Amino acid sequence: MSNELQNIKNRFGIIGNFPALNRALEKAIQVAPTDISVLVIGESGVGKEFIPKIIHSESKRKHQPYIVVNCGAIPEGTIDSELFGHEKGAFTGATATRKGYFEVADGGTIFLDEVGELPLQTQVRLLRVLESGEFMKVGSSQVQKTNVRIVAATNVNMMKAIQDGRFREDLYYRLNTVQIDMPPLRERKGDVHLLFRKFAIDFAEKYRMPELELEPGAVHYIENYAFPGNVRQLRNLVEQMTVVERNRHVTPEKLAEYIPMESHLPMVVNTPGTQKQSDFGSEREIMYKILFDMRNDINDLKSLTSELIKNRGTSDLSNHEKNLINRIYTPESQQNAAPNSLLYFENKNNDAPVVQNPTIISGQDDSYEDVEDIEIEEHRPESLSLQNNEKDLIIKALDKHKGRRNKAADELGISQRTLYRKIKQYNLEE
Ligand SMILES: Nc1ncnc2c1ncn2[C@@H]1O[C@H](COP(=O)(O)OP(=O)(O)OP(=O)(O)O)[C@@H](O)[C@H]1O
Ligand SMILES: [Mg+2]
Repeated sequence: MSNELQNIKNRFGIIGNFPALNRALEKAIQVAPTDISVLVIGESGVGKEFIPKIIHSESKRKHQPYIVVNCGAIPEGTIDSELFGHEKGAFTGATATRKGYFEVADGGTIFLDEVGELPLQTQVRLLRVLESGEFMKVGSSQVQKTNVRIVAATNVNMMKAIQDGRFREDLYYRLNTVQIDMPPLRERKGDVHLLFRKFAIDFAEKYRMPELELEPGAVHYIENYAFPGNVRQLRNLVEQMTVVERNRHVTPEKLAEYIPMESHLPMVVNTPGTQKQSDFGSEREIMYKILFDMRNDINDLKSLTSELIKNRGTSDLSNHEKNLINRIYTPESQQNAAPNSLLYFENKNNDAPVVQNPTIISGQDDSYEDVEDIEIEEHRPESLSLQNNEKDLIIKALDKHKGRRNKAADELGISQRTLYRKIKQYNLEE
C-alpha cells in the first residue's frame, strides 16, 4: 500500500484493507487535484462521506469552504433558495436577500449527499451551474458566477431513477465524470474484525469501560453476517454492546441476540455493473431457492391452520372451508386415491379414527356433515422432486466447501440454522 494511502487512512480513521476499498480511496486521492465532478456510489453506511472529505482536503481548494448539503433532508420548496440564495421579496417570508451555498462555497467544494433526491427543477439549475458556473438567485434575473467543485453521493439506483423520469440523464453524466464505488461490508469479510476492534477501542474509551473482545466463534459469526446497514450498523452494534453487556467476552450466542443470522442476505445478488453469480448461480437454482423459501412459509402456514383446527374443532367451518383444508393437507398424488389419505377424521362417537376418502370430503357425500372434529396427523405436501433438488444443492454446497457449513449456508443463501435442520432432515451427517 502506498504511503499516501496509509496517511489518508490514518488521518480520517478509515479502517480496512480490502482491495476494492483501497481502490476507491486511491481514486479519490488521484482525482483530488483536478476539478472533475465525482459521483460516489454505495449502499447506506459504507463510508461514502469519507470520499468528498478526502477530495477536498487533497485539493488546492482545501483552505476554501467545504459545504455538505443533504439533498434528501431539505424540503422541496426551499432547496433552490438554500442552494442558490434568494432576493428579498422572492416569496413570502423572504424578508432579506440571502446567499445560497453555491455563492458561499465559491472557490471551495460542495458535497451533495443523497443527490438522487433532488427535485427536477433544482436539477435544471444544478446542471447550469455545473456546465457554465452560472446561477441566479431565486426571484432574481441577474446571472452570477461561482467556481465550485462538486462531489455527489447516492445510495439509490440512479439508472432506475433516470428510467422513472426522476433524475435527468444529462445531469447524471455531468455529475458522474468519475465514479467511485464503495464496496458493501459483506464483501470485505477480512475488514469486519478490524472494524469491530477499532470501534471496541473507541467506545471503551468514550464510555470508560473495558474493551469488548470477540471469541473465535464470534469472529466467524460477524464475518458471515450480511450487515445490511454496513459499517454504520457494525458501529452501532459495538456501541450498544459496549454499554449494555457486562461480559466483555462476546460469544456468537450473544451476537445472535443482536444480529440474528436470519437476516443473512442471499449470496446470489445481481447488482448493476457487478453481475456476479455464485457457482450455482444459474437462474434455475435461484428459482429453486425461492421455491424452498416459499415452501417453508407455506408449511408454517399449514402448521398454524392445523393447530387452530386442533384447538377449535371444525364444527364452525363451512363445507367450502372443509374442502379447502382437505385439498391443502392431502398430497396431490392421493387426492383421488381414497382410503389411505394422510388426513383422517376422528369421529367423536367412536374412539377409532375414521379414515375418509378425500374425494368424499370435497362435498359430494353428506356423511361428511357428521364429522365433528378434524385432526391432521401428518402432512407431507412437498413435491418430491423439489426435495431432491434441495438435497442435491445442499450436498453440492457442502462438497464445494469441504463440509464447512457456514460457507455452504452462505452459498445457498440460507441461515446456518436452517442448513443444520436440513442436514438432519436429509440424514446428511457423516
Ligand atoms: N472503513 C471505515 N473505517 C472506519 N469507519 C467507517 C468506515 N466506513 C464507514 N465508517 C463509519 O461508518 C459510519 C457510516 O459511514 P457514512 O456516514 O460515510 O455512510 P454513508 O455511506 O454516507 O451512508 P448513507 O448513504 O446512509 O449516508 C460513519 O460513522 C463512518 O465513520
Ligand atoms: Mg451519508
